[in-house]
Amino acid sequence: MQRTLGTCYYPEHWPQDVWAEDARRMVEMGLTWVRIGEFAWSRIEPEPGHFDWAWLDHAIGVLGAAGLKVVLGTPTATPPRWMLTRHPDMLAVDIEGRTRKFGSRRHYCFSHLGYRDECARIVTALAERYGKHPAIGAWQTDNEYGCHDTTISYSDAARNGFRAWLRQCFTDDGNDGDIGALNRAWGNVFWSMEYGDFDDIDLPNLTVTEPNPAHSLAFRRYTSDQVVAFNRLQTEVIRAHSNAPILHNYMGRITDFDHWKVGDDLDIASWDSYPLGFLEDRVGADPQRQRDFAGQGDPDFQAFHHDLYRGVGRGRWWIMEQQPGPVNWAPYNPSPLPGMVRLWTWEAFAHGAEAVCYFRWRQAPFAQEQMHAGLLRPDSIEAPAADEARQVRDELAEAPEVTRAQAPVAIIFDYDADAAWSIQPHGAGLSYFGLVFEYYRALRRAGLSIDFLPPTTRDFAGYKLVLAPGLIHMSEELKQSLATTSAQVLLGPRSGARDPHMAIPVPLPPAFPGLDVTVQRVQSLRPDMPVGLSTAGHVVRYLEELSGSAEPVLTTSTGDPVAMQHGRVTYMAGWGDDICLDDLIDRTAKNAGLETIALPDGLRVRDTGQERFWFNYNSYPVDFDQGRIDAAGIMRQTLAQEMP
Ligand code: GAL
Repeated sequence: MQRTLGTCYYPEHWPQDVWAEDARRMVEMGLTWVRIGEFAWSRIEPEPGHFDWAWLDHAIGVLGAAGLKVVLGTPTATPPRWMLTRHPDMLAVDIEGRTRKFGSRRHYCFSHLGYRDECARIVTALAERYGKHPAIGAWQTDNEYGCHDTTISYSDAARNGFRAWLRQCFTDDGNDGDIGALNRAWGNVFWSMEYGDFDDIDLPNLTVTEPNPAHSLAFRRYTSDQVVAFNRLQTEVIRAHSNAPILHNYMGRITDFDHWKVGDDLDIASWDSYPLGFLEDRVGADPQRQRDFAGQGDPDFQAFHHDLYRGVGRGRWWIMEQQPGPVNWAPYNPSPLPGMVRLWTWEAFAHGAEAVCYFRWRQAPFAQEQMHAGLLRPDSIEAPAADEARQVRDELAEAPEVTRAQAPVAIIFDYDADAAWSIQPHGAGLSYFGLVFEYYRALRRAGLSIDFLPPTTRDFAGYKLVLAPGLIHMSEELKQSLATTSAQVLLGPRSGARDPHMAIPVPLPPAFPGLDVTVQRVQSLRPDMPVGLSTAGHVVRYLEELSGSAEPVLTTSTGDPVAMQHGRVTYMAGWGDDICLDDLIDRTAKNAGLETIALPDGLRVRDTGQERFWFNYNSYPVDFDQGRIDAAGIMRQTLAQEMP
C-alpha cells in the first residue's frame, strides 16, 4: 500500500491569490492530501439558507488542479453565531449546570435534535455539491468529537433524551418502559432513590453527594450513543452522494465515547498526534521524564494510539493532524528536537498508517492558534518541519512497501470499562486508560508489537498472548471465547468486577470459567505505601485479595497471592509498578512462546510484515547489539522471515 503525506489547510484564512502557489508548494513538498473546510460554516452559509459556494468551488478547483486530493471536513464543530439565534438552547451545559458560550468552537450539545437537523442540512448541501467532485478523495465528519470536554452535556435536551433512552432500555415485549426493572437493576432501594416514572429521572449532576454509579454509567452510555448517532447522521448523508471514504479525526486519551461504535460507521479511523503537547498535558509522566523527553514526546503514547486506532479503523487508519513544531495549548510548548517530525511520521507508517497529514500548512497570525507552528511561518517562509517532510517524501520514494502483519499480542480495549472506572475509581489517580497504558508500555519495553481488539471479539486466532486488564464488564460470551482460545490470557485487576448495571456480581469476580480464583476484598493504596513483592517490584495504588486453588505466580513479601494462574489463564490482582509488570510480561510472554528484547530506555521497536523498525526517542545516540542509532534516529532491518 502506498504511504502518503498531507496537510490541513484553511483557504478561507488567506487571500485567494495565494491558493495556487500554496497548492504548488504542497505538491513540491511531496504532499498528496489537503484537508479543508472543517471550520468554515460561517463562510459557506453566511446567513441561514444563503450559501456562498463560489470560494469553496474555487478552492477545491485550485487544489485539485495542482494534483492534490481533498479531504473535505463537515463544518459541524463550529456552528456560526446565527445558529444560536435559531437554537438558543443548543449549547452544552457543564457538570456545574453552567451553559457554555459562543466564542470558540464545539459549542453544541450532541443531544440537541434541532442542531442535528441543521447538521443534516449543511452536510446534505455539501455532499450534494461535492459528492462526485473528482478532487474529493475523502470526507471527515465534524472535528475531534470530545475535544475541550464536550462529549458530556447536562442540558435539558440531554435530560429529555436520557429519559427516552432509559425507557427504551427497559422496554421489553409488551412492557413499555418498566420502571420497576430500572429500580431493581440500579439498586434504587438504597437511600430511597426509587422512581415512579422515567420522567422523574434527572441527570446525574449536582446531587448532594455522589450519584448512584448505575445512574452515572447509564448516562455515560446514553451520551456515547448520542455521539454515535450524531456521526451516523452525517455518514448516511455523505454515502448517499459520494463513494469517497469517510473518516473522523479522533484524539489522544479521549475515551468518553465508544470509538469502536463510531468506527462501525466509518471507513477509516484517523487521529491527531501532538507528541510534545501530550507529554506536558496528558501522559502523566513524572517531571524527570518530562524533561528527558521534552523535545521528543513520550516513547509509547503515540504508538499506543496508532495501534488503538488501527483497531478502531479495522486496519485502515491515518494521522489526520501531526504536530510540526511548537503548539499553543499545553502548559509548556517546546520545539521538537531536530529529526522528530520525521521520526513521528515514520513511526506512524511502521504502525500501518496510510497517510500522515501535518497540522497546519501555514501558521495563522490571528486568533486562538497564532502560537501554533505550521509547515510555513505566517510570512510563508518554510518552518523547520518542511525539510523533514521533504526528507520523508524522498525516503518514501525509495522505501519498499511497509507491509502489515497481525501482531502476536492483543489487548482488549473497552470504552465502557473506562467509563465505569472513571465513575468508581476506588482510589485517587486510578483510571482504566492509565492501567491499560501501563501494560502497553511494559509490552513495548519487551520489544513486542501489539494489536487492540474490541470487547466484542470472539475469535483470537493468531494471537499468542491476549491481555484484558481492567475489563470491569465481561460478557459471558467474551469469557467463554477467552477461556477456549489457544493464546495465553492475562486478566485483571477488576476483570468482570461489575454486572452491566454496576452491581457486584455473585458469584464474586472474576468468575472466569476454569479458573478457581475469587476476589475476596479490594483495597486502594496511598501512592506512598507500595506493597513489596517477593518476586520483583511492587504493587502500587490498588490491590485485591485473592483466594482459590490456582497457582500463585506473583506474591507479596508476606506470601499473599498477587497473580494466580491456571493453565493458560493468569489473573493479576494489583496495579504493578514497572518492575513488577516487566516481570509479569516476561513470564507470560515466555509461556506464550514469545521472544522478548530488553530494550534500552527510549528505544522502541515495531515489526511490520517484513521489517523491524527501531526508533530512538532519546536526545542522545544509543549503542546496542544491533548497532548505533542517532538521537531521534530510525533503523530499518529486513526480517529474516515473516513475523507471526
Ligand atoms: C486539534 C484540532 C485542530 C487544532 C489543533 C491544534 O485538536 O483538531 O483544529 O486546534 O488541535 O493543535
